[in-house]
Amino acid sequence: MKLQYLGDSRDAFKWDILHWICANSSPCFGELVYVPMLTPDIRNSPQGKTSPLKFDCSNFISKFVSSLRKKPRSLERVKSLGATEQGASPFRVSLFSPYEFIGSGKQRARYWDGFKPEQFENAVVFFDPDNGFETVTCDGTKWVRHSELEDFLSRLPDTSVAVVYQHRPMRKWVEVFADLTVRMGYAHTAIAAYEGNLAFVALANNASAGSRVRAVIENYANAPRKHPNVRVAVLRDALSLTHKWATPSPPSPLPKGAREELKLQPKVSVLTNITTTPAWRVLAAHAETLRGRHLRQMFAADPGRTARLKLEQDGILADFSRQRLTPETMTLLHALAREAEMSGWIARLFSGERINLSENRAALHMALRGAEGDVFCIDGRNVMPQVLAERARLRAFCANVHESRWRGYTDESITDVVNIGIGGSDLGPRMAVQALAAAAKPGLRLHFVSNIDAADLAMTLRGLDPARTLFIVASKTFTTQETLANAHSAKQWLLRAGVLNMGQTMFKLCYGAEFAPEMFSDSLEETQNKIVARHFAAISTNVSAAKEFGIPETNVFPFWDWVGGRYSLWSAIGLPLALAIGMDNFEQLLAGARAMDRHFREAPPETNLPLTLALLDLWNTDFLGAETRAVLPYSRSLALLPPYLQQLEMESNGKAIDRNGRKLACASAPIVWGGPGSDTQHSFFQLLHQGGRLVPCEFIAMARPDFDLPGHHDKLLANCFAQSETLAYGRNTEEARADLAAAGRAENDIAALLPHKVFPGNQPSTTLLLPRLDATTLGMLLALYEHKVFALGVLWGLNSFDQWGVELGKQLAARLLPIIEGNNTTTATDPTTRQLIDYIRKRD
Ligand code: F6P
Repeated sequence: MKLQYLGDSRDAFKWDILHWICANSSPCFGELVYVPMLTPDIRNSPQGKTSPLKFDCSNFISKFVSSLRKKPRSLERVKSLGATEQGASPFRVSLFSPYEFIGSGKQRARYWDGFKPEQFENAVVFFDPDNGFETVTCDGTKWVRHSELEDFLSRLPDTSVAVVYQHRPMRKWVEVFADLTVRMGYAHTAIAAYEGNLAFVALANNASAGSRVRAVIENYANAPRKHPNVRVAVLRDALSLTHKWATPSPPSPLPKGAREELKLQPKVSVLTNITTTPAWRVLAAHAETLRGRHLRQMFAADPGRTARLKLEQDGILADFSRQRLTPETMTLLHALAREAEMSGWIARLFSGERINLSENRAALHMALRGAEGDVFCIDGRNVMPQVLAERARLRAFCANVHESRWRGYTDESITDVVNIGIGGSDLGPRMAVQALAAAAKPGLRLHFVSNIDAADLAMTLRGLDPARTLFIVASKTFTTQETLANAHSAKQWLLRAGVLNMGQTMFKLCYGAEFAPEMFSDSLEETQNKIVARHFAAISTNVSAAKEFGIPETNVFPFWDWVGGRYSLWSAIGLPLALAIGMDNFEQLLAGARAMDRHFREAPPETNLPLTLALLDLWNTDFLGAETRAVLPYSRSLALLPPYLQQLEMESNGKAIDRNGRKLACASAPIVWGGPGSDTQHSFFQLLHQGGRLVPCEFIAMARPDFDLPGHHDKLLANCFAQSETLAYGRNTEEARADLAAAGRAENDIAALLPHKVFPGNQPSTTLLLPRLDATTLGMLLALYEHKVFALGVLWGLNSFDQWGVELGKQLAARLLPIIEGNNTTTATDPTTRQLIDYIRKRD
């Protein structure tokens, strides 16, 4: 084999990498293929002009080597590879240069036609996009280069490894490459970076080729002294993005020539059962050593644990020193997260990969809170332009309502908004409107109707003026029974009032009121349509169904199938909130969530807040056996956070089948419940203190109040801190006895009361403290929970973004409805259901 190397003017790092590949990979690969995309030397060369397809590199190598004479250190490297000035080397090098020197348009297309990556068997293909990547964005023509690279990589045989090199500012390129490789389905991907401005990617879709390159990278990371340029921390960080190459069941190789399909094809994780990993086994053994240890003992043994078991991020303090674990537990949990390929999954999430396998969808709700200039791609298309355009429409709509330009059918301004939706189309905005009530704009009341029980809608409409009421029908699918039934009834209510009011309206007209006279030349149906157009808006991914309902497209705010219902607050589903607090505040909510997205994506695992909360949940659930988790906001404004989290956490991770369809070997989402302190101290706290069950608790409190009445907030905080402390330490027999004696109780009284006065304690808790409850901090908090849920899904190997478990009941309800209505001659097949229906029939 021969090594020939072509250098260009900025080859210092490149040479280092080639050196690394050659030195470490020569036994594995027969050929080094070097593919520069823009190399001025080549462009101007005679070979470049005459034969773009394949070169004899000898002229270049001798030219390069002679130039190296002037750089003794570089020459040493050449020599160490066995290269000579004649160009002898351990590798055969082929050179392809697809770009600049062969022009553009048809010429280039022809070139690519003749370019056959399939021919490289057992090769290291060193792909040097150089400036070819510099201007890559997800839109317009510049993307072309990216897709050509994709095409190239998808056609590369499985026995070969592609190495993509880029010496542009590192983070951006790591992201570009991460995006590319994830979308390409390369399970064996390493992204290494060094010297802060170089990104380097090795790709392999074959496990053994992959593991050889991984070994090379690890070598490199482990031998910093040999490579003084390497910033080991950066390299290790980048390596943590590496998908596991050597794990037992590698994914099947990518099918050839199926690029389009590939993009849609779900990627299968290599890891199938986390309980079989070494990290899990170590954790299980470690849990045994902690069993029976009381939090009192843990604090006594390690006075520094408070400082070590906490995280602070953008003003949020997460204190988990009262969890039943030690700093060592955290280290072991992080090892488990590495086994679960956490960093790779985070990259996949943000890259827009269709990680919701069973629905073949991406989960890109982070794009909804993206800012101008951000790029979030699905199938290579940047979704941000449409997200921003819809956000601008929301802003305009809110301004029209707030400034009374939006008027009802009698030309009155809007005073009441009723959101009709359920699940993710209700819980988020309902919770957030209440949470941010302190920031509410005056003059507009928000109402939420979700339940199919008429009591919900009827009670809400009581006292509302149809002429001043705006309905928002929020439904991702626009097929949900509850929402459609409520929306139809609301429409009837409005139209009845509207038609009755027509007499008055005519009167107004006759007496000179400024009102649209054309309304009265219309048919009844046209009039009704006009009334609906003034009083109904819709939010949905199913725009045509909303239009069919009678809502004009101008009042329909779309969102997209890559937004899960329970992750949709940030989309137009947040409209009721934007109306309540104004669009500027709503954008603050998005900004807060965006900050948490950045943190989740970029923070190292040990300081990563969502990941840490996920690991705590996993520890409590799978190693301590907790079946539930209590969410305890010490904030009346956050009273609806527990129900919101019930959907977010339990609909996402309440699953016992992993993403590959296999039964989970461990427990998944605990039952989430809770309610606001201090109320709940007077309802269920008794059980937390003395019920004998393990219930990990999550306290949430704010340093400053959102509504300030003198003395209240400090009392609230005192209660919060007292409860978590009492739950942790309890009161043992001696303390209880001493308290009773101090209260002057007689000895026989003490003996009788003592068992009732003992608090076992050792109830684990985390306390989240926020500076205050405002739109920004709420956005951060909710995104924190979203990412925690995702991280837990990764750890358990679940798809957190589908919800098949809610379907069966819906189908059966549809079958039973005609039977209950008496419109169906058949009866229910189940005897119990039959008995229940028979009872109901007696009402007639
Ligand atoms: O309960 C199932 C569910 O599909 C939730 O996931 C969703 O948030 C809710 O129903 C409402 O669905 P839609 O927004 O389509 O009406």
